[in-house]
Amino acid sequence: MPTPRPTYDLVIAANRLPVDKVIADDGEVEWRRSPGGLVTAMESVMRSQPGAWVGWAGDAGEAPEPFDEDGIHLHPVPLSTEEVRDYYEGFSNDTLWPIYHDVIVPATFHREWWSSYQTVNQRFAEAVAEVAAEGATVWVQDYQLQLVPTLLRKLRPDVRIGWFNHIPFPPVELFAQLPWRAQLLDGLLGADFLGFQRQADARNFVRACRQLLGAQTKRDRVTVEGSRRQVRAAAIPISVDFNGLEALAKRPDVMARAREIRASLGDPEVLMLGVDRLDYTKGIRHRLKAYEELLSERRIGPPEVTLVQVATPSRERVDAYRILRGEIEQTVGRINGELGKIGAPAVHYLHHSYPREEMAALFQAADVMLVTPLRDGMNLVAKEYVTCRHDLGGALVLSEFTGAWHELHQAFACNPHDIEGLKQTILRAINTPAKDKQRIMKALRRRVSDHDVQRWAARYLAALAAAPDLPQAEPRNPPTPHEVETPLMPSPSEHSAAGAKGSPS
Ligand code: ADP
Ligand code: F6P
Repeated sequence: MPTPRPTYDLVIAANRLPVDKVIADDGEVEWRRSPGGLVTAMESVMRSQPGAWVGWAGDAGEAPEPFDEDGIHLHPVPLSTEEVRDYYEGFSNDTLWPIYHDVIVPATFHREWWSSYQTVNQRFAEAVAEVAAEGATVWVQDYQLQLVPTLLRKLRPDVRIGWFNHIPFPPVELFAQLPWRAQLLDGLLGADFLGFQRQADARNFVRACRQLLGAQTKRDRVTVEGSRRQVRAAAIPISVDFNGLEALAKRPDVMARAREIRASLGDPEVLMLGVDRLDYTKGIRHRLKAYEELLSERRIGPPEVTLVQVATPSRERVDAYRILRGEIEQTVGRINGELGKIGAPAVHYLHHSYPREEMAALFQAADVMLVTPLRDGMNLVAKEYVTCRHDLGGALVLSEFTGAWHELHQAFACNPHDIEGLKQTILRAINTPAKDKQRIMKALRRRVSDHDVQRWAARYLAALAAAPDLPQAEPRNPPTPHEVETPLMPSPSEHSAAGAKGSPS
């Protein structure tokens, strides 16, 4: 008789496992850290508590056998070549992703993609049902798995189900474009608690249930039709492992590497840095446009000022991503060709993934961090930058269209669509006196250290355990006004269905 599989009291379900299976040129199997903020955050949460992680291993075909890694039980879910194309690249990243990010590029709708999304969500629900212990807590992650809560509830009514959206939830006028809008909302309403990055996202969800399903809603609660069940939808913004990352950034070898990076760039007076997945939501073209104009107008220039742009490869077979890569690389080539100097390029462009130590060193080396997304659920890079600046050096330029901006108001705020304004903000970030920048950095660091990823997970799990009611008490400090208030400045998507458009002008 085969031995029964072990089961777990805490199960995470996410599209990706924290590691990707990669076949090296010599045919050897290698495991590499998966890209993206979800993995960064969830990995540090799961390292400190026993549990299982159900997800895709990152390549098409049969799934590897379940295995344990650094105290986490990893349970791979297989995806066929067609499912990678239709469920992951198609429905998740070419239908949902654009709709959930203000339609910066047009969304594509295909019925076969939807069908594949349903099939894969069912497979995830079955895999979770297999590893969840009686009465377990199941924490489903992100937009790729929106049908899992209801599918899982049918299979395992005994488990408590939470879902957290790492990306924005769109205004109803955009969400309504989805031909499968009602099924997606029904899928989510299988959860006991739904977590979002911003209050506006939670409100968008509740409004969508009211307007598109005719559901009864009261404040942050939705009553599920045909049952007395209530589902609560609230904002619990994600964060970084402040203590762990700060300790890494304080390591002598990492600090030495930061100095070495600056030296290898010719010890510029001002080193600017961008770190993003190569995604059209990140506003990389807008950033380059502002930088190029500042150089052409001779307001800044190499070798005194230089820019390092790290652009992590992402979703490279989706057209919009392929086109973006071409545009960025052409722009970098043009800027360097026209405005660089021998031995002093204006942009150092790196299309790689790096170890955490190297990222921490880069953050420490940078005088100005450019975070300019057109729309971003949170943007952990912004929080990682301030975490690494234990020296209180550096300045953060931060788009108002990131979740992070709703917590990090003291940063040098920018609207990336406003190229003239972005140029002014970059100059301000460069020229503000060091003492003032230190004061700002101190405030930013206090916010992130008080609201780290451990606190986020504790708050989320307490809200899930208490749902549909509010949790009894906060695990640590009570939420600050930013968490309970309406955002100070409504974003364009809250005003209009047209959304933002992607071209810098
Ligand atoms: P997203 O989830 O959209 O990718 P975030 O900014 O929230 O955006 O998270 C990105 C995560 O990926 C951060 O933890 C960041 O440090 C990491 N990261 C980004 N680029 C690289 C890279 N080139 N090498 C290693 N890690 C990277
Ligand atoms: O949070 C946004 C997100 O889509 C995560 O779900 C994902 O892990 C990350 O960005 C990277 O994207 P992908 O898994 O498609 O490479």
